[in-house]
Amino acid sequence: MSITTEPIQGFTDVEDTRAQLATCGYLADDRLATTVFLQTRLEKPVLLEGPAGVGKTQLAESLAVATGRRLIRLQCYEGQDETKALYEWDYGKQLLYTQILREKIGQVVEDAADLNEAVERIAKQDSVFFSQRFLAARPLLEAIDSDTPVVLLIDEVDRADEALEAVLLELLAEFQISIPEVGTVTAKTMPYVVLTSNNTRDLSAALKRRCLHLFLDYPDAARELEIIRSKDTGLADSLAARLVDIVRGIRDLELRKAPSISETVDWARTLAVLGVEELTADVLSTTLNVVVKYERDLKRVMDALPRLVDPNAEVPDHLHGHGHGHGHGHSHSPAADTADDDRDGRAERKAKDQPGRHNAGYYGGAGGTGPRTAPAVSTSQGSRAFPSARKRPL
Ligand SMILES: Nc1ncnc2c1ncn2[C@@H]1O[C@H](COP(=O)(O)OP(=O)(O)OP(=O)(O)O)[C@@H](O)[C@H]1O
Ligand SMILES: [Mg+2]
Repeated sequence: MSITTEPIQGFTDVEDTRAQLATCGYLADDRLATTVFLQTRLEKPVLLEGPAGVGKTQLAESLAVATGRRLIRLQCYEGQDETKALYEWDYGKQLLYTQILREKIGQVVEDAADLNEAVERIAKQDSVFFSQRFLAARPLLEAIDSDTPVVLLIDEVDRADEALEAVLLELLAEFQISIPEVGTVTAKTMPYVVLTSNNTRDLSAALKRRCLHLFLDYPDAARELEIIRSKDTGLADSLAARLVDIVRGIRDLELRKAPSISETVDWARTLAVLGVEELTADVLSTTLNVVVKYERDLKRVMDALPRLVDPNAEVPDHLHGHGHGHGHGHSHSPAADTADDDRDGRAERKAKDQPGRHNAGYYGGAGGTGPRTAPAVSTSQGSRAFPSARKRPL
């Protein structure tokens, strides 16, 4: 296959990758910058998995800006039809043409002896109506068929059905799409492909194998602070550093939805707009709705706030419980439960800062006790992408 890789602005090394992404407002750590650099050199898609709001989508957007490539996005969702991902025939246009060409079509069948012969004659004209002219390219075909290099973002791939995943397998293996009526469309330039997943289901091993896989977790405190600073929130540095610590404490609580980086940014902006000069439990609880979006979570965080703001605070007994059996406002992990002198969960957060904690055992990796193995997906499933039944009558 002769596909050219011609980055408009190639990255020279990992450091250069990090620097160029930073100029586009994206602050990558070592692992992420290395993965992105390798992606541009090894021509492999990147699969980013991780919780909401840790910068998965933003990476693809910033990569496009940094490399001067157009971003093409396929947003996946449940029940998504592959015609919305690959291509579909533009039925409206076909119909319009047949209306306009009514007379001409009439001439073709004019002297046909019977209906059978008329149908045969029309069928011979199939290729006119099933040609590039009537093809509506959807994001995957658009990326493959692009004359200029692109970044292809396949966002939230875990929401797509397994059938669509099989279509992606074919595409990522060959970087080509076959359209029975037209032929095979091969990528003219190699797209940088970024897939993201929020882990709502396991992705197939086959898909993971084709990608450089990276688990993006919440950043450590220093990097999160750097990100907040880069967003010009207007909040003083010292307060932003305290805020990051408090948000990290909130993440350690057992919440339905932990606050993400974007929520820390929103909170910092909110506090700056209010002209807050000191982070007290009171001021934080009145603005808590910016970061906590579920009623149950709100109660838990309210209870925990005094201790998160001041680990030495004496909390009156009536404020101590949060109504679900633990009776204290810190982390629910066994480690923190036994560590009375670590009530604000700092040791636990520090442990979370260790790189690579998700590497072993994550999703049933070597030595892990991960969840079910995803069923093998045969590539032949992808042939569903091109059923002849898709042809519509003229
Ligand atoms: N490393 C980073 N550098 C700069 N901004 C970041 C970084 N990580 C996250 N952000 C900011 O956090 C916000 C959320 O990022 P993004 O939408 O990419 O998250 P996501 O992981 O795709 O979340 P979801 O799973 O909900 O789609 C964005 O505003 C983004 O700018
Ligand atoms: Mg996203």
